[in-house]
Amino acid sequence: MNDRTQLDTLAVHAGFKADPITGAVNPPVYFTSTYIQEEPGKHTGYEYARTQHPTREVLEKAVAELEGGTDGIAFASGCAATSTLIQLLKSGDHVVSFDDVYGGTRRIFEQIYTSLGIDFTFADLSNSDNFDAACTEKTRMLWIETPTNPMLKLADIRELSKRAKERGILVVVDNTFLSPYLQNPLSLGADIVLHSTTKYLNGHSDSVGGIVVTSNPELADRLRFLQNAIGAVPGPMDCYLVHRGLKTLALRMQRHTENAMQLASYLEAHPKVDTLWYPWLESHPQMALAREQTRGGGGMITMTLKGDLENARRFLCAVSIFALAESLGGVESLIEHPAIMTHASVPAKERAQLGISDTLVRLSVGVESVTDLRNDLDQALAAAY
Ligand SMILES: Cc1ncc(COP(=O)(O)O)c(C=O)c1O
Repeated sequence: MNDRTQLDTLAVHAGFKADPITGAVNPPVYFTSTYIQEEPGKHTGYEYARTQHPTREVLEKAVAELEGGTDGIAFASGCAATSTLIQLLKSGDHVVSFDDVYGGTRRIFEQIYTSLGIDFTFADLSNSDNFDAACTEKTRMLWIETPTNPMLKLADIRELSKRAKERGILVVVDNTFLSPYLQNPLSLGADIVLHSTTKYLNGHSDSVGGIVVTSNPELADRLRFLQNAIGAVPGPMDCYLVHRGLKTLALRMQRHTENAMQLASYLEAHPKVDTLWYPWLESHPQMALAREQTRGGGGMITMTLKGDLENARRFLCAVSIFALAESLGGVESLIEHPAIMTHASVPAKERAQLGISDTLVRLSVGVESVTDLRNDLDQALAAAY
């Protein structure tokens, strides 16, 4: 496993040394859809940009290195990566998924692939025994997101991967919330790691993308086949932006984590906050697992407020440094209302079961001054009641 010191250096250098022709320290952005062939079938290894692309390869190599894997395969969005991974399966197969996954992931599973004959069981994988109970003879994939979006529940990747392996089940971990700087699922036994690069990997809220990493050569070959055949690939500029973002991943993740830890402690003690979830706080029911499996709690905080929807609405409208917006993982602090915004596609009954209530708010803590952020939340809470 990469340790923190290695990651500090890797984040800056992964994927690219220098351009061999010019010495440029940043990778060229190749705006091309095709490549000249010397004679039919005699080419440089690059035939068509959906199939091979040099700027994309730099990003793929960099994220693979950061995750401690051998192969990275990039996509046009996190959802495109998710959808392509499900194409590893066939009709009749069954997937066990964490119940509290990102709303868009659940939408892909329930509203697209169920009608194509793939079955999904959503289980609370914060208890590993619920995985055994959900498995059937047809289970081929375990889908973990940890920490989950938005309830910040954790799954024990090592334990679940061990149990899945005994049954020949493929393990996918969505590592979007922590980034490879804070968690490396492959080293804990997962087969595939997925990221929405839109979030921490890019880090500047200026591109949408996805990537998967594996160390299994057969899976890598199949995923490259699917990447080319389905064609949900990212453009060169987006690949460049994410790769540029990676260079400050270590710095950003350190600051996100420090700021979030301080704000979580402050908010938890605030009289208008009802319940707060942050994995590295004593109050989190899985703090021990968090401290064993991850190198830090990351930048996400979820909490319920006292009062009702109207109080939550007033609070969200009163913030001024935090921006009311979907998404997460950028340098700027964002805040949102999952029931109305990111998780609106999850049916109301399931939202209620998961705890996504009307007063639940999710914070993506940025890298600004923590004092300014605390003052902003303080004044917005005062304005909400
Ligand atoms: C945990 C997680 N996985 C996947 C996705 C989907 O990524 P994208 O929006 O890049 O398609 C998101 C988006 O919010 C997410 O939060």
